[in-house]
This record gives sequence, C-alpha cells and structure tokens, in this order.
Amino acid sequence: MDKTIKKVKRIEGSLRVPSDKSISHRSIILSSLAEGESVIKNFLKAGDTITTLNTYRKLGVEIQEKDSVIYVKGKGLEGLNEPQDVLDMGNSGTTTRLTLGVLSGQDFFAALTGDDSLRKRPMKRVTKPLTEMGAKIDGRKESNNLPIAIRGGKLEGITYFNEKMSAQVKSAILLAGLYAKGTTQVTEPIISRDHTEKMLKWMEANIQTEFTTQGYTVKISQTDRLKPIHIDVPADPSSAAFFAAAAAIVPKSEIVLKDVLVNPTRDGFFRKLKEMGAEISYINKRDEAGEIVADVVVKYNDLQGVKVEKEEVPSMIDELPLLAIVATQAEGETIITGAHELRVKESDRIKAVVENFKRLGLEIQELEDGMIVKGKQKVKGGTVDSYKDHRIAMGFAVLGLVSEEGITIKDADCVYISYPDFFKHLEKVSK
Ligand code: S3P
Repeated sequence: MDKTIKKVKRIEGSLRVPSDKSISHRSIILSSLAEGESVIKNFLKAGDTITTLNTYRKLGVEIQEKDSVIYVKGKGLEGLNEPQDVLDMGNSGTTTRLTLGVLSGQDFFAALTGDDSLRKRPMKRVTKPLTEMGAKIDGRKESNNLPIAIRGGKLEGITYFNEKMSAQVKSAILLAGLYAKGTTQVTEPIISRDHTEKMLKWMEANIQTEFTTQGYTVKISQTDRLKPIHIDVPADPSSAAFFAAAAAIVPKSEIVLKDVLVNPTRDGFFRKLKEMGAEISYINKRDEAGEIVADVVVKYNDLQGVKVEKEEVPSMIDELPLLAIVATQAEGETIITGAHELRVKESDRIKAVVENFKRLGLEIQELEDGMIVKGKQKVKGGTVDSYKDHRIAMGFAVLGLVSEEGITIKDADCVYISYPDFFKHLEKVSK
C-alpha cells in the first residue's frame, strides 16, 4: 500500500497512542516464566508484539484475551515446552534476541527464523555471550544471522561490557542469568532502556542495579521463582514522538499525548525537541508499576538546530530518523553523531533517511555514524521508500504535513509493526 500525506493547516487535539512495544514484549516473555497468572492491560496489539505472543504460545504457554485484557498462565522458569516447528520471529529483533536469552536456559532444541529484514540483522551480539554462558548455538554466518538453532544447557554467569548500549543484548544476558550458576553482570557506559530490570525486580528476581564510575551495572543470580505481574502498559514514547514532531513543525499546532511512558531512558526525543525550542510539558505525572507516566503537551514554536552526541543516543535511538526530519524545519544545522547502531535496525536508517532526502531534493550529509541536516528547507514533496521499516514510513508521513505538494510513502502498511492505526490517528489530529 502506498500512502500520500498532504500539507495541513495545523495539528490539534488529544491522542492516546498505542502502548509501549518494549514493555509489551517483556510483559509476555517474563510472565510466561512466572509462577501463576499475570494480567496485562493495554497490551500493544501490533505486528511485533503479536509475534512475541505467538512465540510463547508455541513454547507451551496458555495466553488468553478477554475484554482486551491479556491473561498469561506462567509455566515457571523450567516449564516451557520444546516447540514443534521453527519459530518465526517475523520482523521483531526484540522477540528474537530476548527469546534467545530465555532459550539458553531450556533443556530442549529450538530453531528461529524471520523475515528478509530480520535475517540480515546481527545476532552475534547475543549468540556470542550466550554461548560463553553455556548455550549451544549454531546459525548462518557464524551464528550472526537467522536461521539460528539453539539448545539450552547448564549455564554459568558471565561479566559482560555492553559497549553498544543495546537493551536487547542486556536483556538477553539477564534472562539467561536467571538460570546461570553464580552471578551474571552487565555493565553499560550509558544506561539503555531498563524495563527488563524494572520488571524482574518487581517479580522478585535476584537482581540489583547500580550506577558506578564505569556507567551502569546490573547483577543477577540464579532465581527459583518469579512472581506473576499485574501491569497496565503505558503509551509508547516512540509512537508519541511522531505526533510531538508533527505539532513541533506545523505552525499553530498543539497536541496532548495521553499516558505516555516518560522513563528517562526513553524520553530523550522530547527533551531534545524542547532544547530545539518546542514548548513541551509533562502534566499529570504519575508512577505506574515502577514506570513514570505523564500526559505530554506539545506546542509549536520556532525551532533551532541541535547536536546529538553518543551519550544521548540510547534514550532516543528509535527517534533519530524523525529528529533528522524535524531538523529540516529548524533554524541552522543539526548534527547527529555516535549513532552507528541506526545502520542495523529494521532498515539501515541512516541510508533510508539520506536516500529519501535526496528523492525529495533535500540537503543532508551522510556520516558513518549519523547525519548532518541543513535547516529551514522548503519541502516540495515527492515519493519516498519506507524500506518496509515502520519508523521510516511514519517519519516521512510527518514531513508530508509541511510539504507543498504532498509526500507519497511506498509500502506504508509496514506501520502495522508498531502502530496499526497510525494513519487514522494522523487524520484525526490533522486540521
Ligand atoms: C529495544 C531496544 C532497542 C530499540 C528497539 C527496542 C528493546 O534496540 O532500538 O526498537 O525493546 O529492548 P537495541 O537493543 O538494539 O539498541
């Protein structure tokens, strides 16, 4: 499906964007390992999280939905079943990497594959440490690419430095750490999203976290039982970001984004947008099961170009293509560096942004680990490629709102991965 987004007068209204993808994945994975029934309200029903749900069903977990609430009958840490067939991870890196961590602790065989994009994404970052812990893993390109086969085993704790600051790597190792003899320790120079640790603490795993001179460290040791959870999943800041960006670049706009997760490991984009000059405030700030939630109000204002450096990247990693798009409407240049990880997401997101800018006649300089975007550019419009990447499709839809002749996005149906109603919501707040 192709989709065309045209210029609007303003963005106005209030929205509850879909629930957080990272927390939704973790709520299914961890409650499958708990003893007893977990209750998940506001679970994200989208491509990636449905992949997780189906995966844990295939591992023998009973998961039911009644009146939009998900009930998971946890099987305990040792209770999963050997899957009868290859597990299809679809487009989901999070399902794959976290599940490889879980499967490392299971005394059975499993094989995992995925779609064209996922089969290209690097898995060595998890298969290497999990092999060191004792899992038996084999896969394409020295276990760097799916399909991957895994047989769990007796694991030993490791000490790991998470240089790439990847939450998926940290989470995979911590999940295996639940099964490992001794202590498993993960240190990262800058904290990456910490939902796995938060949820594991809540479920009473043997886990501690601390900030040190080296950064942030999590220690976990073998755990006998996890307590089931009752969770109401807040709205996803990475989905809310598209509407915050829209309100920030379309003159006279104002939007209220309800129930948004504003965990500091995730809200970097809102902070950056504020630094650029947008009027952003968090109202009704509250705590929900250890996570901070707020209604985010965004008002249009003149924007200035900014710099994004390595230390800031983890808290806005998925929003950086969108930031480059916003930067075209700011005064002065925006420089994004230290973001090499963008090259190994659902698409090479640096290349996707740069090539689409060229298609639209916009100026951008490609860096190995980022981009330099010229400010105050006139957007005439044209056709761009989504690269079948949900965040690229939604980002360029936002740019369409300030284009003279509209922007057509090819393969726009990929928004289904994280935000099936995106275009409906965009229409709702477009005036
Ligand atoms: C995620 C972690 C990030 C992020 C992805 C979701 C998670 O990836 O880009 O969309 O839920 O743990 P990395 O761990 O590869 O940085």
